Parts: sequence; C-alpha cells; structure tokens
Amino acid sequence: MFAIFSADLSRKQRLQSEKCRARMNIHTTHTAEGSQPCFFMCPPQHFAVSYSINPWMDPRAWAESSATLEMEADRQWVGLRHALLAAGATIETLKPAPGLPDLVFTANAAVVLDRKVVLSRFRHSERRDEEPIFAAAFAKLAERGLVHQITRLPAGIVLEGAGDCIWDSWRRLFWMGCGFRSEPAAARILEKQLGIPCLCLPLAQASFYHLDTAFCALPCGSVIYYPRAFTPAALATIHGHVASRERIEIDETDAARFAANAVCIHRTIVLSSCSLALRSTLEERGYDVLETPLHAFQRSGGSACCLTLRLDHCSGGSSARISAEQQLGGTAL
Ligand code: ARG
Repeated sequence: MFAIFSADLSRKQRLQSEKCRARMNIHTTHTAEGSQPCFFMCPPQHFAVSYSINPWMDPRAWAESSATLEMEADRQWVGLRHALLAAGATIETLKPAPGLPDLVFTANAAVVLDRKVVLSRFRHSERRDEEPIFAAAFAKLAERGLVHQITRLPAGIVLEGAGDCIWDSWRRLFWMGCGFRSEPAAARILEKQLGIPCLCLPLAQASFYHLDTAFCALPCGSVIYYPRAFTPAALATIHGHVASRERIEIDETDAARFAANAVCIHRTIVLSSCSLALRSTLEERGYDVLETPLHAFQRSGGSACCLTLRLDHCSGGSSARISAEQQLGGTAL
C-alpha cells in the first residue's frame, strides 16, 4: 500500500522527501547528533494515578482497575525501552521511589545540553519531592562523566525540564512551552546558562499543558505540532521560524493520542500510536515510524517522549548547518 502511495507522490512531495533525507544525512554526519543516543528513564514500579494535576489524570478511574493498569504500564514501559534499544539507543536507569508515581516521567527531570544540566523545579507540590531524587541521580551521572555541570534555577522559578523545553537540533535553539507549568522567566535563565536562544510558546489548552504533548522538533528541521494547543502568539513564533513546508500539523485525533509526544532516534520515530496519514507524512520525509502502545501512561498525561530524557544532545558548531544549507541551496530560517 505504501509502495503504491509513494509511487504516486507528487513531484513537490518527492522533492520535500529528498531534501529531508539529505538534511538528515548531512546533519547526523556533521554533528554530535550522529553519536549513539543516550536516554535517562525510570521503571514504572510505583507508577499510578493517585492525584490530579492535569485533565488526563483521574485517580478514581485508575483505582477501579489499578492492578490491571499497573501490569499494563510495566509491559508498555518495557516495550518502549526495547523500541529505543532496538533503534540504537543506550539507557541510563533511575531507581524508582515509592510515593512518587510521576517519577517515571524523566523528561521533566532537567534540561540537558552539551552535558550541562539545569535541574527542574516543579509547579505542583505533588511532584516537588522528585527534585532531590533527580538531583542525586545527576550527581551520580556526573561522577561517571556522563554529564559535567549541574546547575539549579534561582529560587521561585518553575521549569519542568525537557517536557517543556525542546531542543531543536536543526535550528540550534530551544522551544519552551509556558503558561501551565514552566514560566517565561526560565527561558532567559536557560539562555544564560546554556548559551542557546530559547523561544517561548504560550500554551492554550490545559490538556496540552507541557510543550512535548503537542510539539516535536525533528532532526531534518520539520516540526510536528497541534496548532490548537498554542496561543496566536505562539503560532506566530512557530510560523516565523519554521517554513510552511517544514510544518507537520496534526489533527485532534492524533493530538489526543499524543502522536506528537514522540522520540526520534536517527531515522526512527517512536510513538504510542498515530494515524495512517501522519505515518505516511513522516515516511515521505524519510522516517520509519515505530508504534509502541503507552496508553497506561496517557492516563497520567504522558507518553513516549515524557518517559525519556536525552542526555547526549549537543549544540555542535555552526559550520555543519551552513554547509548543509549550501549543498541544498536552501535558506536557513
Ligand atoms: N502526571 C504528570 C504531570 O502532570 C505527567 C507528566 C508528563 N510529562 C511530560 N513531559 N509531558 O506532571
């Protein structure tokens, strides 16, 4: 079916696909993004929905079938782990802690770039006890040389890690969601501490409270996003930095199954599930799409991306990107 479909691709689509593949090749061979991806994850031994800090979380519904859901979460987390390993990643594992059901969402632990770590501060008291656990885990990773600079945010500033702060390796900047959890002041702090521009995207819907629930920056420069999750100001910022041919808009159905909450490893995109239309769009751009169900975690408002934290993202030099643009005859946005 897909072979027939791709044979029918319009010339424009074929060019887009070729350009995207070429961008990925150049990007991964010339920058540190081509090295072996390393993720930080925490097994769901104590995962549950026992409080509600976003509209997906319903403790009563969880309690009604908690035994089944706990088993499902275990199975699904192992499925994700296998998918990441099969795609070529390595994984650093955090020991789960009782009483902290959301510790499994390691994307919220910190922002990490060039092995520098900016530890998170959580908005809700329910998650604040995770902070010292993540801090201790990063101290251990530092002892092993996996990260080498750990900083804390100034008092009172809230930033929920990579869940709200997404590294765009093509544009060499961070996209930061704000409005529900992280606050704009955190963007200026990150810019100072990591020396990278950080664009704020005010979020519009409580169900898409973290940026990674509605936005994913791919290594070829394309961006998957759910427009209705963003305010007009945020959309203007996205449109100002991402050319229309690079924008992959998803509809309500894909957004509702967290298709944007995807993890990209080289050319593989790992996600819980997506429509055939989105799969085809991504395949046309040269990606393999791997679905691994993560419904149990969506009951807490999370999916693939939230369950992982990349430890090896590097900002790299500017020469690789310029040479890519020159070779493709494109313009850097
Ligand atoms: N229950 C968690 C919370 O509301 C889910 C976090 C999901 N993480 C993410 N990066 N979107 O904080």
